[in-house]
Amino acid sequence: MQNFFSEIPIKAERIQADIEAISRFTDPDVPFTRRAFSPQYLESRAWLAMQFKNAGLSVKVDAAGNLIGQMGPESKSVLMMGSHTDTVQGGGRFDGILGVMAALEVARALNESSIELNHSLEIVDFVCEEPTIVNLSPLGSRIMAGDVTITEVSKAITPFGQSLSDAIADLGGNPSQLNTAVREPGSIAGYLELHIEQAPVLERESLSVGVVTAIAAPCRAKVSIKGSADHAGATMMNERKDALAAAAELILLVEKITTSPLMSPDGVGTVGWLENFPNMANVIPGEVNLTVEIRSTQAAPLVEAMNEIDQALDEISERRGLEVEIEWQHVETPVTLPLQMQEAVSQACTSLGFPVKKMPSRASHDAARLAPIFPAGMIFIRCKEGRSHASEEWASLEDIADGARVLAQSLLNLDSKAT
Ligand code: GLV
Ligand code: MN
Ligand code: MN
Repeated sequence: MQNFFSEIPIKAERIQADIEAISRFTDPDVPFTRRAFSPQYLESRAWLAMQFKNAGLSVKVDAAGNLIGQMGPESKSVLMMGSHTDTVQGGGRFDGILGVMAALEVARALNESSIELNHSLEIVDFVCEEPTIVNLSPLGSRIMAGDVTITEVSKAITPFGQSLSDAIADLGGNPSQLNTAVREPGSIAGYLELHIEQAPVLERESLSVGVVTAIAAPCRAKVSIKGSADHAGATMMNERKDALAAAAELILLVEKITTSPLMSPDGVGTVGWLENFPNMANVIPGEVNLTVEIRSTQAAPLVEAMNEIDQALDEISERRGLEVEIEWQHVETPVTLPLQMQEAVSQACTSLGFPVKKMPSRASHDAARLAPIFPAGMIFIRCKEGRSHASEEWASLEDIADGARVLAQSLLNLDSKAT
């Protein structure tokens, strides 16, 4: 109880310095890219483990490859903070990284000021949050939630051509003992994640901090369209089986469904990956593979939209005489964050003098995968022009400071209340 309303002396400059330092572990040709399991990711993990140690944390890697820094008696019930340090291709310096570095700073400041929590504290860098391993990412939080099997891991290959099991072992994990990384429901008293908003809502409202209420669910399908690769001059329009023209119909259909009353104003849809064969100016496209992704904070419209896309694809393939296959490989459920976690963050905002801005997250996070197992809460900070998953991604030092202070105070609020 002694910690309620006492403030942890956060030094935001140290968070900024850590964000800057880890950004140097990048694919040199595509800043700031650090894909999970890449050589740069492995190097950055060794560096991060050292920062955890220097902050006075005892460091371990769980069987899944999650990097965990712990402080306080392990016998006590656990409060957890964290996020991820892998990035998308061409991705930014803040997505995920902020949550890990701010959590590290909170732990460091707690140690320096000799504030003792009533809980054991764990700082986690979840392995591979971004969709690097088709169908299994976000990997570390899903494994912790008991949502990925050893068999699934043993069959998967990383984009770098390595077996996922070997890649996890290279990080210090133990894929054959995956179950030891699973936390039981109720074993964690609360999980907090600070993240950039990745959208422009806070910026438009001139606010630095937001309280996350819900997390939208991404649902992703792989689509394969097979037509006939024929001569682009000699084949008349009514004789073609053009796979790319069918894909174009599908892309516009995704846009139409996600902006229709069924999903609007909450739904979004994207075809972000596509390959076209043989991809030549004078050959009719014979085969196209692509992904469809739709997201919403509402479960029912997502299910209906998936059905509508399936039916429309049947109609397109029949009308155009093509072979079409669609497989929904990754289907998540939208998450409402528990009221007691929203309350812990809201109270922190109020006691630090920030307005309580409640808002959903339209991007997904490790918190969404942990929420079914233990109470998860999230804090957003303003993100410049809402740009994210891009090298321009930016958050100011002032907003980092505000977010980290809210994170620290939310932790103290939970520490006084949760058991
Ligand atoms: C996570 O980065 C997401 O795609 O929402
Ligand atoms: Mn991301
Ligand atoms: Mn993220």
